[in-house]
Amino acid sequence: MQITAEHLTYVYNPGSPFAVKALDDVSLTIEEGEFFGIIGHTGSGKSTFVKHLNGLIRLPSSQKHYKKPKAKKGQPAPVEPSLTVGEFDLADRKTDFRALRKKVGMVFQYPEAQLFAETVFDDVAFGLKNFEKGLKEEEIEAAVKAAIEIVGLDYAAVKEVSPFDLSGGQRRRAAIAGVIVTKPEILVLDEPAAGLDPLGKREIMELLHRLHRDWCKTIVIVSHDMDEIAENCTRAAVFSEGKLVCALPPKELFLKAEELLSLGLDIPLTAKLCAALAKRGVSVGCDFTVDGFVRAVLGAKGEKR
Ligand SMILES: Nc1ncnc2c1ncn2[C@@H]1O[C@H](COP(=O)(O)OP(=O)(O)O)[C@@H](O)[C@H]1O
Ligand SMILES: [Mg+2]
Repeated sequence: MQITAEHLTYVYNPGSPFAVKALDDVSLTIEEGEFFGIIGHTGSGKSTFVKHLNGLIRLPSSQKHYKKPKAKKGQPAPVEPSLTVGEFDLADRKTDFRALRKKVGMVFQYPEAQLFAETVFDDVAFGLKNFEKGLKEEEIEAAVKAAIEIVGLDYAAVKEVSPFDLSGGQRRRAAIAGVIVTKPEILVLDEPAAGLDPLGKREIMELLHRLHRDWCKTIVIVSHDMDEIAENCTRAAVFSEGKLVCALPPKELFLKAEELLSLGLDIPLTAKLCAALAKRGVSVGCDFTVDGFVRAVLGAKGEKR
């Protein structure tokens, strides 16, 4: 399923003194199969954008009592935002948003805060029963077991355990299991590694690659961590003040170091090292992964690999 947003604009509390334009004319396509990153400083509209993807935030035209904006005299009709996810037209009120949510899994920031059931099994099963009624006991068990295993937890060891007795990283993985248990085609995660220690972060990124390979066709992550973006993403979109600045593969994106820094964003360590080497007259062109950087440096030194 491809995601296509055109002229997506969103205002919180429209028409009130508290109105905030959170998205401003965003046009962006995310292809099926991508591992797509979204970056931008706090308040740039990242979360607002991803909440559109499963209909959590609805386009005005998909809401009741919507009136098409009229053209002002002598001016062309205003462009209306559009958003499609695969066959789902999210601008249309008649769209089956429940079916959409089954295809587009959404993992919020700190998802473990939403765990509530008495056991890990019940929590993960809840995500499934919510979407599919009338499943047989053994079907539920098989799906829950598969979801718990793919997130890297030991099914026998955790199924009867309270989520609150797990470690922070395990809790987060249990929460992710509760989302992916429906086998969504697209998995969206808002800051999936935030607040974890380095090992927990690494495990989450490994998990996302495993899911990308075996479970969900497309992964979309919001991240502050530029090393994570450089290392993992096919492309990344940069948001600033509700606008899309660009959407590029990391090896092109991080050539724009100055622009990113001026937007208050960081660049990956590899990009900093390339810049420091360039100052000393050593130019290494690399894709900004650690591995690519090492290969480029060895190449620049003329060493045989
Ligand atoms: N529920 C809300 N009500 C009013 N304003 C909001 C709400 N959620 C977000 N905003 C505002 O919308 C803008 C974009 O927010 P958000 O999408 O959360 O950005 P990000 O995820 O990049 O930090 C910010 O100015 C934020 O304060
Ligand atoms: Mg956010």
